[in-house]
Amino acid sequence: MRALVDRAGTDSHGRLSKVQIRRIKKGDLAKVREVVEHAFGDFFERHMGTRPRQVFGGAQYVHHRWLMEPWGCFVAEEDGSKIVGAALAATWGTVGLVGPVAVLTNYQNQSVGQQLIRAVDEFFAENRTALQGVVTYPTSPKHLYLYHRLGYKPKSLQLVMSRATERRPIVPSDNGKAPKAPLVTRRYSSLEEAKKKAILARLHRMTNAICRGLDLSKEIEIVDGLALGDTVLLERGRDVLGFAVYHTPGVSEAPQGTLYVKFLAIDPAQKRVEHFQHLVRAIEDLALDLGLSRVIMPVYLRYWQAYSTLVACGYQVDSSMVRMQRGRQEDYEDPMHLVLDDWR
Ligand SMILES: CC(C)(COP(=O)(O)OP(=O)(O)OC[C@H]1O[C@@H](n2cnc3c(N)ncnc32)[C@H](O)[C@@H]1OP(=O)(O)O)[C@@H](O)C(=O)NCCC(=O)NCCS
Repeated sequence: MRALVDRAGTDSHGRLSKVQIRRIKKGDLAKVREVVEHAFGDFFERHMGTRPRQVFGGAQYVHHRWLMEPWGCFVAEEDGSKIVGAALAATWGTVGLVGPVAVLTNYQNQSVGQQLIRAVDEFFAENRTALQGVVTYPTSPKHLYLYHRLGYKPKSLQLVMSRATERRPIVPSDNGKAPKAPLVTRRYSSLEEAKKKAILARLHRMTNAICRGLDLSKEIEIVDGLALGDTVLLERGRDVLGFAVYHTPGVSEAPQGTLYVKFLAIDPAQKRVEHFQHLVRAIEDLALDLGLSRVIMPVYLRYWQAYSTLVACGYQVDSSMVRMQRGRQEDYEDPMHLVLDDWR
């Protein structure tokens, strides 16, 4: 039998309890992580029949996301003392992303989740995001209902793809013709501090050409600042042709033993499959150098060329979710854009 204190609605003396939403404080972080992992652990157990030993395979979401966006992170607290739910959000320029959102099982279906997401919505409004997105479970009627209620419409599938690392030659670019300068990769962390701002501005121009207002600067800076991984730049001569933000295991979003690509883009003005393949292989080499046995590349199926190229590169689908979106109605996604953007 469950202890009375675990039951939402009343405290141990049978008095009505009150759940309030407030911003996350530093001292809440460990508890928030516990609540998120507990709620997802219960969900996976219900939907897959087994509870994973590590809920996200060792990936972590709470601490660095709060550091990146402290005003966009909320908890639901019962009677000012017990954290029962949390919602985190991030802004990539004018694109607002929700997640993770979690409510302890005993407190679910009492509109705590909606209150948390509404708090995130206010944060998005304050920050004038033009597009808001979330990735959720397409086979869960509850999740589809919940996000529909909050104005989110299902779009296409978001796949998590991965491949075991092995050393393989980088495909020569330009169909064998000698290029003016070779393609090279450099890590953002290796740049002089004074050069980083100019690179961020260059990458912003690139992402803006993919989706108006999209800006990964904060994500790149937090990955660099906390050494969660790095950002690899694909360059030819003085030109940056593409980049990828990746996490490595520890306190990042990379599950144990894997290198996880959070975002990758090839400049739409230079969108050649060879550039994409070169960057993918360079990342695989980085993973090998770090002793990591797998590379995870998430892909949104509207970026069909990117998906097809990953399949051709030997990537397999590990799981699928659905992207839901609100706000800007125009279809900005160009199937030929070579982009990997994980909204989770
Ligand atoms: C998803 C989650 C955050 C929602 O939190 P919650 O507090 O239960 O959500 P709410 O009570 O605000 O809203 C749920 C709504 O779904 C409805 N619902 C519940 N089961 C349903 C079902 N099978 N079919 C349709 N609707 C359903 C509820 O009635 C409620 O709607 P209502 O307010 O109109 O009655 C919570 O279930 C959770 O933590 N799940 C595990 C982690 C997770 O999946 N996170 C989200 C990933 S995108």
